[in-house]
Amino acid sequence: MTSSPSAPPRPLVVRRPDAPLAGTARVPGDKSISHRALMFASLAEGETRIEGLLEGEDVLRTAAAMRALGADVAREADGSWRVRGRGLGRLSEPEDVLDMGNSGTAARLLAGILASHPIVSVMTGDASLRRRPMQRVIGPLERTGAVFAAREGGRLPLCIRGVGAPEPVSWRLEVASAQVKSAILLAGLNARGETVVEEPVPTRDHSENMLRHFGAAVSVERAGAGRIIRLAGRPSLRARDVLVPSDPSSAAFPLVAALLVPGSAVTVQAVGLNPLRTGLFTTLIEMGAELAVSGARTEGGELVGDLSVRAGALGGVTVPPERASSMIDEYPVLAVAAAFAAGETRLCGLAELRVKESDRLAATVALLQANGVPVRVEGDDMIVTGSRADDLGGGRVQTLMDHRLAMSAVVMGLAARHPVTVDDMGYVGTSFPGFGDVMNRLGAGLADIAA
Ligand code: S3P
Repeated sequence: MTSSPSAPPRPLVVRRPDAPLAGTARVPGDKSISHRALMFASLAEGETRIEGLLEGEDVLRTAAAMRALGADVAREADGSWRVRGRGLGRLSEPEDVLDMGNSGTAARLLAGILASHPIVSVMTGDASLRRRPMQRVIGPLERTGAVFAAREGGRLPLCIRGVGAPEPVSWRLEVASAQVKSAILLAGLNARGETVVEEPVPTRDHSENMLRHFGAAVSVERAGAGRIIRLAGRPSLRARDVLVPSDPSSAAFPLVAALLVPGSAVTVQAVGLNPLRTGLFTTLIEMGAELAVSGARTEGGELVGDLSVRAGALGGVTVPPERASSMIDEYPVLAVAAAFAAGETRLCGLAELRVKESDRLAATVALLQANGVPVRVEGDDMIVTGSRADDLGGGRVQTLMDHRLAMSAVVMGLAARHPVTVDDMGYVGTSFPGFGDVMNRLGAGLADIAA
């Protein structure tokens, strides 16, 4: 379970294991694809079966919201879910406030659905989500004719008066955000006419892929460095089974840990390798990591493969800003890898990190500094100077309701000479239930964190 304000924090002291990490692991389903599968299936006609759904707190919030809107969503076995959709435009008004917990993806994508139905709804979230900017979806979604009332600065709670006949929207994204793109496309499903989204750089395209999978007509054309996506409104959206690959953003933690704990050799199976998600792996290879893909195949319309790493020396690199959207959630753990690499690693164009589950730019800097890593910020760039493992660790990391900071801090603790204290492991279950078990099966020796 995720921590709530009433749940006491769950600290963890992480020590370098006596033996290398070794073995083969599987990590849970992709978070982005899991949210989308539940949402699209709820809007489609007929019964969708989803295999490999991530049963993390964030996705369970989406499942609860779709139920509250009238879809029939049922869990049949571990990771195996069935959704009977209501058909486009046929979701019903929720009885009560929709609580999206810690999940920005759930809140922003759902806003697109709520705006394009003739219902009134109120959405809220936990303290982290209530701080995050929603204006980026409110702006384009107001063009549908829906009316929004939010707190100062476009923060949750948010009240939406949706419309049954939404106007199709044409929008150029100001920030590279797959969440905003997806919210507009979701609203466009119920609009008569063509919805057009232009993105300045390509962002993860799971919505486009899944819309096609469910029978919608989506076209994508290149426009300079970015892309223009067009969706024909009111498609006949038909239930189709979905197989969710393992989340590359979760695979990142055991893989980076294995790179850093001397002598380790670890394989993570069936990881999603959508090229718009693999910036971390590209970067690690540039840093000199022994990282290999085997068994690459297409499963459920997404590229997957087994990723194997061997521990070894890493060197500092410059990560260009245009790579940010393909690894946006991986910067904290990459910064930990950089702390052990020879020389400087420069991570460029990190402005968006300031508005994630926490201010991840500041929090990652604090994580490193607490553990003796020289790091500085210049504008939107973070520059990490690598050190010897023997000189690192010993700090207490504040995770600020942010699952990825907690898991990155664990990786720091496994690799550094001195134990690292993580102040609260309670949020890890938002994206990676079973994290402790997966790591321990590889030999991490973490105390029981039940997450
Ligand atoms: C997500 C997109 C990313 C990412 C988030 C999931 C998605 O956010 O950080 O964890 O599923 O679309 P932005 O697109 O807003 O950068």
